[in-house]
Amino acid sequence: MWESIDEIQEKVQKVVKKRRYQHILGVRFTAQAMAMCFGEDITKAGYAGVLHDCAKYLTDKEMLLACRKRQIFCSEVEKRQPSLLHAKMGAAFAKEIYGITDEEILSAIRWHTTGKPGMSNLEKIVFIADYIEPGRKMLPKMEEIRRVSFQNLDKAMYLILDNTLSYLKDGTRDRSTIDSYSVDAYDFYRERNGVV
Ligand SMILES: [Fe+2]
Ligand SMILES: [Fe+2]
Repeated sequence: MWESIDEIQEKVQKVVKKRRYQHILGVRFTAQAMAMCFGEDITKAGYAGVLHDCAKYLTDKEMLLACRKRQIFCSEVEKRQPSLLHAKMGAAFAKEIYGITDEEILSAIRWHTTGKPGMSNLEKIVFIADYIEPGRKMLPKMEEIRRVSFQNLDKAMYLILDNTLSYLKDGTRDRSTIDSYSVDAYDFYRERNGVV
């Protein structure tokens, strides 16, 4: 078995900034509450929540170097915006540094930023908790998304991806920063929700 969640949480606290740590706590408790709601593993949701941003403190240069060292594939979008890699690196660190071997937890960390088609419930929970945790600023439709998140995971996925992609597609931002997994996830969950 792994170290206790509280021991891991203390270690993470030492490497991330205070604001990030507050966010991490918010994601831990939100993911656990959602796991209770949907009958998923509360312990796994807690570990994934605590560790999901454990690589977020790396600089762009360190992130690219860390990926190269581990032969982790970096897409063109990720090379342009290395902070996107914190999800992949987070999963790698969770295993290497924090000794997590459970594939479901590692995968929930891996996919928490972009999402992907056909996610597991734990993956969806961590993705959604990252967006709705109480410390997040009020984004458009946040109240509705928070409510739906405890009713229908696929619908919450669709609403969040719709929000995120329309934000990224806003004329003032560079379209080349949109990860193709997010687009695929959006198409998948839009169809799931019968939106044409
Ligand atoms: Fe993140
Ligand atoms: Fe996060």
